[in-house]
Amino acid sequence: MTAARPLLPPYPTGWYVISLSRDLAAGTVKPMRFMGQDVILYRTQAGQSNVMGAYCPHLGAHMGYGGTVRGENIRCPFHSFEYNLAGACVSIPYDSRIPPKATAQVFPTQEKNGFVLAYYDSSGSTPTWDVPELDRRDWTDLIATHWIMRGHPQETTENSVDIGHFTETHGYNSVEQLKPLTVDGPYLTTQYAMRRPTLGRNIRSEFEIHVHGLGYSQVDVEVTEMGVKARLFVLATPIGDEQICLRLALSAYQKIDIKQIHPVLSLLPRRALITAIARPTFAGFKHDVEQDIPIWTHKRYVQPPILAGGDGPVGRYRTWVKQFYTEFDQQRV
Ligand code: FES
Ligand SMILES: [Fe+2]
Repeated sequence: MTAARPLLPPYPTGWYVISLSRDLAAGTVKPMRFMGQDVILYRTQAGQSNVMGAYCPHLGAHMGYGGTVRGENIRCPFHSFEYNLAGACVSIPYDSRIPPKATAQVFPTQEKNGFVLAYYDSSGSTPTWDVPELDRRDWTDLIATHWIMRGHPQETTENSVDIGHFTETHGYNSVEQLKPLTVDGPYLTTQYAMRRPTLGRNIRSEFEIHVHGLGYSQVDVEVTEMGVKARLFVLATPIGDEQICLRLALSAYQKIDIKQIHPVLSLLPRRALITAIARPTFAGFKHDVEQDIPIWTHKRYVQPPILAGGDGPVGRYRTWVKQFYTEFDQQRV
C-alpha cells in the first residue's frame, strides 16, 4: 500500500538561511531546530555567527538554555566547558587536560546579503559551492516575513519552473519565457515575463530566477512601466521531517526613475517614496506565497508526474534536484 502522502527525503544538501543577520545581536545564543536537529545559533563578541549542535559533548546539557558567549567561545551552562567556533573544547574550569573527544558538532556558517546561512550535508562534507555576495549599496534593507509550515524545499522551489500555476494559482496572464532554463551544477536560472491586473491596468513584470540549491532562491523583479526593481528572496529551511521555515524577503532598488512613478507619489521624499513602493510590492509577493501555502501544506509528492504541454520544465528540474540527495535517496526523488 502506498502512503497517503509519500515523503521526499527531508534533508537535501545545501545552504539554508537560519536567521536574518539583524535578528542576531553579538553575545546572543538561541535554541533552534535545523534539519531535524537541536542546534544553537549564536554570535560571538567579535560578531562571528555560528551554528552548533545544541547538546554539550560532556554530559549533554542543551547550550541554548543558559549557554553564554564568552569572547569568541560558547560556554555550557552546566559545568562551564567552553567551545571555540570550530567546536573544539578549549577550556574546562577544573581540569587543564582537555579530552580530545570533547568536540561539539558545527555546521559551516556564513553571512551573506543580510542572512545567516548554514550548510547541511548528511555525510558531513564541507561545502563545494556558495551563494553569491550581492552589492547592496543602492538597495533598501530587507523587508521580511516567514511561515512555519508542512512542506519541503524541493516542492517550494519547484514553483519557479511550474509555469502552469502562474496563471491558474496566481492569476497572471500572458506568461512568456524570456530565457530558457539553464543549469550549472547547483545553480539554476530562467526568466519569465507575465502580466497581472493591478489597479485597473494589466501590468507587466519580468522575473529572473536564480536558484542556488533548494534552500536559496533569488528572483530579480522588474516592473518596467512603474520603474520598480526588486530582489525577492524565497528561502526554505527544513526544521523537521515534514516541516520547513519558509522565509520571504525583499529589497528594492533605491535609484528609481522618479518620472516613471505616479505623479502623486513623486511628490514624496525619496526615502518615503521607496518605502511606498517596496511595501505594497512585498505585500503582493506575500499574497502569492499565501496562495501557494494551502497547496504545499496538503499536497503529496508525485513522481513521475503526469505532465502536460505548458507545464514548464518540471522534468528537467526533477533531474537537476537529484544532486542534492545521497545516491540512495536519489531513487525517491
Ligand atoms: S554538560 Fe556541558 S559542561 Fe558539562
Ligand atoms: Fe507560486
